[in-house]
Amino acid sequence: MANDRNSGTNIMLAGFMGTGKSSVGRCLAAMLGMAFLDTDALIEAEAGAVISEIFRTRGETWFRRLEARAVRQASRLNNTVISLGGGALMDQRNINALKRAGVMVWLRTSPENVLARLQAEGAASIHARPVLEGRAELEQVRSLMSMRERGYRQAHVTIDTDGKRPEEIAREVARSAARQPFANEAGACGETSAAPGSPTIVADPTITAGGSSPLIDRARQRQRWMSMLETHPAFLRFDGGGSGPVRESTWHIADTAGEVGVAHQVARCEVAFPQSTAVAHAYRHEGRVLDIAAGSAVYAYLLGHSLLSRSDTYEAAFERPCPDGEAPPGTTIVITAPLLRSLFGTSLEEGLRNWLGRNARIVWAMVPNGERAKSLPALGRLYDLAAASGARRDLLVIALGGGTVGDVAGFFASTYMRGLRLVHVPTTLLAMVDSAVGGKTAINLRAAKNLAGTFWQPVAVIADIATLGTLPLRDLTSGLAEVVKAAVIGDPGLFEILEHVARVAGGADTHGTDGCRSTSFRRPRAARFAAARALQQEPALLRDIIRTAVMVKAGIVAMDERDAGDRLLLNLGHTLGHAIERAGGFRRWTHGESVAIGLAAACRASARLGYLQEETSGRVIRLLAGLGLPTSVPHADDGALRESILAAMALDKKARGGGLRVVLPLSIGKCSVCDGPAAEALMNEVVAKSSGRACKW
Ligand SMILES: NC(=O)c1ccc[n+]([C@@H]2O[C@H](COP(=O)([O-])OP(=O)(O)OC[C@H]3O[C@@H](n4cnc5c(N)ncnc54)[C@H](O)[C@@H]3O)[C@@H](O)[C@H]2O)c1
Repeated sequence: MANDRNSGTNIMLAGFMGTGKSSVGRCLAAMLGMAFLDTDALIEAEAGAVISEIFRTRGETWFRRLEARAVRQASRLNNTVISLGGGALMDQRNINALKRAGVMVWLRTSPENVLARLQAEGAASIHARPVLEGRAELEQVRSLMSMRERGYRQAHVTIDTDGKRPEEIAREVARSAARQPFANEAGACGETSAAPGSPTIVADPTITAGGSSPLIDRARQRQRWMSMLETHPAFLRFDGGGSGPVRESTWHIADTAGEVGVAHQVARCEVAFPQSTAVAHAYRHEGRVLDIAAGSAVYAYLLGHSLLSRSDTYEAAFERPCPDGEAPPGTTIVITAPLLRSLFGTSLEEGLRNWLGRNARIVWAMVPNGERAKSLPALGRLYDLAAASGARRDLLVIALGGGTVGDVAGFFASTYMRGLRLVHVPTTLLAMVDSAVGGKTAINLRAAKNLAGTFWQPVAVIADIATLGTLPLRDLTSGLAEVVKAAVIGDPGLFEILEHVARVAGGADTHGTDGCRSTSFRRPRAARFAAARALQQEPALLRDIIRTAVMVKAGIVAMDERDAGDRLLLNLGHTLGHAIERAGGFRRWTHGESVAIGLAAACRASARLGYLQEETSGRVIRLLAGLGLPTSVPHADDGALRESILAAMALDKKARGGGLRVVLPLSIGKCSVCDGPAAEALMNEVVAKSSGRACKW
């Protein structure tokens, strides 16, 4: 994934080993309704080995390289409490990346305290920390600490932790972090070139059926952190153990989007999560399950907030409490990328164990991040792991991740032992609205993307909007391209909602005449992704947008499960999009960005042919631009790139027997599959028109 730094909604905990960063981090994340990531756990998931083993077999230099990669991934996240390894701040590049990602807090402890803690934990704990080289002595701790202090001192906030319990420290961190300006606020974190804070977006009561809440900006997020501390004394009693006394209580609370719910909750560990409980209740009343029909298959699509850790999510997905009815899966294999396991693995496993029983057999299977997941070697490793784990036909496959994980996991599920039950747990917007619905699976071959694939319908889709909170803004924006596509194919109402979001969040001129010139792609990153940022802080609106987009896709898939007719409509923007993705080596532009360019080109081609009004074409292009998406062939002045895009389209044409069929919009909500002149017009967009446009990506 290309360089993509967010503008600061994370809280990062730095400090020496034995300071309790992980326990404080978990406590803090629960208090503030944020995700939690431990970079050491991410390194272990990536390497498939514990840290002491990595040091022993590959050495410290190798470990620091893995650590730098983990830091880069962590610093692209949003709304996450990140616990950093004790030595992570020895590298200034790590510090620079992290400081742009949010508020960095140094949890300071005295060497005596560290030593006491390590000794209390025993020999195993000392051996698990290879920099101690098997010894825990005061002089050694002192000298290591002083070497690292230069890095820790660069944190935005310092908190002394001696003699304090994790929940006290967490509370102090939350208060201090809430007082800190965010990275893109003027003068903060040394980022002078960044745009001022996100605009405050005024509520529009017409925006969604149930949309009573304003989109919130970063200042309001800070207020939320504060008010969650002030107004929910229950948080203060959270002890992180989950085994406290059971107590009945009732709260009237508001979720992140301001929806008010009443939760009758047995308070225990859940005391820390009243927000998610209430939201789940609210969704149940609203009917959070959509039924998707594809050919003979009908499956549930569950959409809601904080669904993963709840056993009733899985009961609803399978329409029964386990183990009634069909035999429960003997083994569950969760296919995911290391980062996603580190972020969501605990919640998913908790929910599965609550449903299947404590002793359920859960196997974690890692695939690489991004397109590399959709490869023959990655698929081969999945087959090997399944065979080695003695899995039988009752294996349940869970795909936890974005479209890449879903595609390869789906391919695996459809072919291993001639087909296994599959549940999609999409964690990107693109996967929620597109790839998890419809049953297409794929891997990439050297010759072309998605060349090997199957149709394999899942038994359920579980879309937890909470997972979108951590998504890098560029990836959230990419998903919006598929949402715009759905709107242009079949829902003018959805199109208007998106226009509203773009207008108020991004300040884009969606009423102007020229989509290209009205929005500069050279604007600061914070401004370019303002719409994604606003949506990320507005889960109720995001949920409504997802539901509507899914319904467009589900409607088409229900009519044509296997791409024989109507389903071709879903290729809107994809003919050129795939060619661009390929020409960029699958790294330069995301799938969604490529689709956005393809969609804009399809609009221009359609207008040129007289199928679509010029004004409507401009409206679509302005919307894409307003949401932070590219709208023209990139580097149109780069002849070589243009040639490779055309060559990729020609390859596609050949693969389809010489006739390239393309989808063109006729109006907003209506498209048609065309051939002949339409394909030529689209190719002309690559050659001629784009080079005259002002905007580049
Ligand atoms: N099967 C289909 O019908 C279909 C439809 C559309 C697209 N696709 C495929 O989907 C793929 C693109 O999917 P994508 O855009 O989801 O990309 P992706 O799966 O590569 O995910 C994008 C990035 O976001 C990270 N990520 C995922 N969830 C996250 C979260 N909640 N928080 C933080 N980081 C997170 C991933 O690790 C990855 O780095 C393409 O390969 C495309 O061909 C398939």
